[in-house]
Amino acid sequence: MTDSPEHPSPETLSPEELMALDNRHIWHPFTQHGTESAPLLIKSAKAATLTLGDGSELLDLISSWWTCTHGHSHPALNAALAEQANAYEHVMFAGFTHAPAISVASRLVNLLPGDLNRVFYSDDGSTAVEVALKIAYQHWSNQGEPRNVFIALDGGYHGDTVGAMSVGKGCGFFSLFRDLMCEVQVLPYPSTFIGDDEVEEKEDGAIAALERLIEEYPDQIAGMILEPLLQGAGGMRVSRPSFLTRLVETAQAAGILVIFDEVATGFGRTGTMFAMEQAGVVPDMVCVSKCLTAGYLPMAATVVRDELFDSFIGDSFSRALAHGHSFTANPLACAVSLRSLQLFEEENTLKRIGEIAEKHRGFLERIADRPDVTWPRQVGSIMAFDVKGSPDYQSAQSRTLKDWFLSNGLNIRPLGSTVYLMPPFCITDAELDRAYEGIIEGLDRLAAAELSMDDKRP
Ligand SMILES: Cc1ncc(COP(=O)(O)O)c(C=O)c1O
Repeated sequence: MTDSPEHPSPETLSPEELMALDNRHIWHPFTQHGTESAPLLIKSAKAATLTLGDGSELLDLISSWWTCTHGHSHPALNAALAEQANAYEHVMFAGFTHAPAISVASRLVNLLPGDLNRVFYSDDGSTAVEVALKIAYQHWSNQGEPRNVFIALDGGYHGDTVGAMSVGKGCGFFSLFRDLMCEVQVLPYPSTFIGDDEVEEKEDGAIAALERLIEEYPDQIAGMILEPLLQGAGGMRVSRPSFLTRLVETAQAAGILVIFDEVATGFGRTGTMFAMEQAGVVPDMVCVSKCLTAGYLPMAATVVRDELFDSFIGDSFSRALAHGHSFTANPLACAVSLRSLQLFEEENTLKRIGEIAEKHRGFLERIADRPDVTWPRQVGSIMAFDVKGSPDYQSAQSRTLKDWFLSNGLNIRPLGSTVYLMPPFCITDAELDRAYEGIIEGLDRLAAAELSMDDKRP
């Protein structure tokens, strides 16, 4: 579109003019436009720092919805993107293939344990989950033994498309859509924290609930999906690797296909490349996205065991998987992904994640005795605790804290009463210390009622 008085190009607009257009034309995700403050206009981003339209800076302590790994606008990733754009930007992926997609797939399966050897590309975390659900469903149908029940865990979140919402029905965001959902049975989730002395009882309860479902739904359960070690959007709820091992072994012994949703936990977040490594189990499928492209471009993968792929082979299309997005295996995204996986090795990123984990543990010890802090927990580069008070997702307390953090240079978005950090791995120790001091000051001010708690919810 050419520059005209009605349609000026964005570069010629002031921040105020841009925001007026945003306010007039944009519907933001997961946003109640009736109550939330205006979004912040980004001008640039580098490493762990976001620069806003007015020149002020924010530390990105949640990695831009948990996507950013090596840092914003990383020179090596920028170069890989530019090089690929100069070669070709996109080609359809049915009937065509290309080196970037092949290279990422072969690196990915080498990083994953067992015979998780087949990569089905899609566009984002939700679609990776949709693909896994469809594969599980069709696998049983292809075997001539149709099954239509899925098992999920309470508090699990798997995305916003209809299948993903169905298996995420335990997270509380989607009750309105229940009539659209497929059949899902929800198990209790044994969420734990530092100093929890009831964890074994909770874990036994979850395993017993799975055993009951296995008896109640013989030959009907198509698959079980869960976020290994950490439920993200459900409130940064941590579970133990030993529980994961028991759960998966129980399900697989009963012939249930196990799907790990590593959309948030994949690529180092939990301290290992994939959370599953800590439990020593191999699911039948794993969904990855977010950090797959270091936070640069939307891309996802559902990686499945050889045996599952084989069950789709035949001489008619009716056995094949009827699924494919226009931008499947986008070469730009694959080129960045490949470079990002190389950086994990070149920069020894997992070692840095270990150091971040150590610092988080020190901080949690420091705040453990505060009267307003409860359920401290940490896994890899993620640390979380709850602030005693309102647990609602969009409570006044949560929004008050978020706004205070933002006005003090910290991009921290509490999930209800849960305050958490999930920084990009390039974050420095000094930046982490700034975040910790900011959290303490925010909590002190909240406790001293210095922060306004004007609840504008309808
Ligand atoms: C575990 C998990 N699964 C799936 C999704 C959905 O991913 P996307 O937002 O890319 O669709 C998310 C998003 O936060 C997630 O955390």
